[in-house]
Order: sequence, then structure tokens, then C-alpha cells
Amino acid sequence: MRVLSGIQPTGRFHWGNYFGAIRQYIELQDEHEGYYFIANLHALTTIRDAERLRQLTLDAAIDLLALGLDPHKATLFVQSDVPQVTQLTWILMTCTPMGLLERCHAYKEKKERGLTADAGLFTYPVLMAADILAYDSNLVPVGQDQVQHIEVCRDLANSFNHHFGKAFVLPEARILSSAAKVPGTDGEKMSKSYNNTIEIFEDPKAQRKKIMRIQTDSRPMDQPKDPETDHLFQLFRLMATEEETQEMADLYRRGGFGYGQVKQALADAAERFFAEPRARRAELEKHPDTVRDILDAGATRARETAAEVLERVEQACGIAPSRVAAAKR
Ligand code: ADP
Ligand code: TRP
Repeated sequence: MRVLSGIQPTGRFHWGNYFGAIRQYIELQDEHEGYYFIANLHALTTIRDAERLRQLTLDAAIDLLALGLDPHKATLFVQSDVPQVTQLTWILMTCTPMGLLERCHAYKEKKERGLTADAGLFTYPVLMAADILAYDSNLVPVGQDQVQHIEVCRDLANSFNHHFGKAFVLPEARILSSAAKVPGTDGEKMSKSYNNTIEIFEDPKAQRKKIMRIQTDSRPMDQPKDPETDHLFQLFRLMATEEETQEMADLYRRGGFGYGQVKQALADAAERFFAEPRARRAELEKHPDTVRDILDAGATRARETAAEVLERVEQACGIAPSRVAAAKR
């Protein structure tokens, strides 16, 4: 089984990214062949500062390695290092109905907010489909918000297969129900675009302050509360042991506690949970060239796989490369 996922370097990773997506990459790398990449081409739709994008791309790689992605087990690379993906994007674009893209949420939301979208944002799901299909991926671990894009990918693959014979493998999304939509500091979905994130590797003191400012309801101290409907509890559960979670749930049901107490417990749990990755990150940061070597080796492997798939697709639709072009690859 081949597993693939991508993550945009549009900011530092937050708890939603970790529990919804990155944790799955790491769990799956032992049993399956993993391809994980940093989606810098997608990030170009929002970041227009070369130095910042370069730095965020490197930071993303360091974060993933620090969190446990093992380059001996999985292939880690940068999206733009595999040009076959953008070639495949064009081919897929010719099978993409406009209406399908008009319904995609990233574009739709921007338009509804009255902002002008560019063709990059509009065709974003096609590039994402190419990312997935270029490696014959079977499984795509993501958070809930990406499911629509994987459906689009399946639609495009089906449409191409229907016209030209079976060239693409159909992928499936993999969602963790326990963390499909991790809440942010305002209780809504945690997201860089909503300014409600808690970053994984934020300075511990700043992180604790942020946690203390998480919005809560105005329930009186003595009243019991259902833990299942409370976003502080949802966050605590992700990082605490089973025993701690049970104790906290009992406390909620009994009542007579303050949210400040829960927030301190959450900050402690987060500090413990990410202590090892934090130490690994500090080490990796001192060796950026080692990280770049890992990305180069990953890109070489990824290009080999993508070139094979692209060749098959080009044969299928009648644009098989000339011998000169084939020799260049
Ligand atoms: P953001 O919404 O902050 O821009 P991205 O779109 O870059 O995050 O998401 C990267 C990955 O993390 C995707 O697989 C996405 O589904 C997952 N993810 C992002 N936010 C959350 C969240 N709050 N809960 C669960 N998964 C999430
Ligand atoms: N669009 C995804 C996100 O914002 C990132 C991404 C790009 C991706 N290509 C992908 C995810 C391919 C899974 C598979 O999170």
C-alpha cells in the first residue's frame, strides 16, 4: 500500500496539523511505503516573498523530521523538485470541468468574501490531484477539510481512465475521527487563516500564555459540564494519558472547577507531549545541510516514481515523449 500526503509551508505547523495529519504520516510509515512532501507550489498562491517561502520550506522539513518522520522509512521531498507533477497537472486540467472547481471550498470562500482569486487558487485542486496520482498513491492521510479535494482527485482520475483506459490508481482519504477537526483558541476549527492556532514549537512561555487566553463559556464555577462538548477538553484529550483524560472528564461531570485549572493542565500536557520533538528540533536546526541532503535524496526517489507514472499516462493519451525527450528524463 502506498501512502502519500502533502502539507503547505504557509506558516509554522500547529496542533491541528499535527493531530489531524502529521501524526498519521508517522504512524503509517512503519507498515506502508510513504511519500510525504512540502507543498511549496501550493503555498505560492499565498506567499509572495522568496526568502520567507525558502525559510518556511526548510522549517517544515525540520518540523516533520523532529516530529518523527523517518527518512529511512519514508520519502520526504519538496513538491517543486518533481517537475513531472506540473506536467501531469496540465494533462488533468484538460479533463477538469469548470463547475467542479467552482464548487471547491478554498476558491468559493475567497470569492464569497469578495476577494479576487487567481487561476492558481482556482486550479489548486488539479495540482493536488496530480500530486496524488503521480505516485500511484492508495491512501491519503489528511484532516476533514481536504476530503473534498480527494473526491475531486478521484473524479479526475475516473474521467481520464474513462477516456483513455485505466492509467490511474484511485486513492482514498484517511481521516482520524478523533482529530478530524481540532478546535482552535476560539473553539472553531484551528487554522492559519482564522488566527486561532497554537503552534507546536512556539516558545513554551508564549504558548502557555496563549493557552490561558483560550476562549471559554461563562459557566458558573460550581456547575457540572459535559466534557464532550467542550473544546478545552477536546484539546486536553489529544495530549493527556488515558488516566488523566478520565480524571478530567470526571472533574467536568462533578463541577466545582475553574477553566484556569484545565488550561494549566493542558499547557503541562502539551509541554510533556512535545518535549522530545522539541529537543530533536533544536538539534536538527543546527544542521540544515543534513536536512537539505534528506530532501535531495527524497526528490530523486520521488522523481523516479513520478516519471514512470507520467510515461504511462502520456502513452495512454497519445502524447508519448519523443525519443529525445525520453532520453533527457
Ligand atoms: P491550515 O488550515 O492551518 O492552513 P493546512 O490547510 O495547511 O492548514 O492543513 C495541513 C494539513 O493539516 C491538512 O491535512 C489538513 O486537513 C490538516 N489540518 C489543518 N487544520 C486541521 C484541524 N484543525 N484539524 C484537523 N486537521 C487539520
Ligand atoms: N492542499 C493540502 C492542504 O492545504 C496540501 C496538499 C497539497 C496535499 N497536495 C496534496 C494533501 C496532496 C494531500 C495530498 O493541506
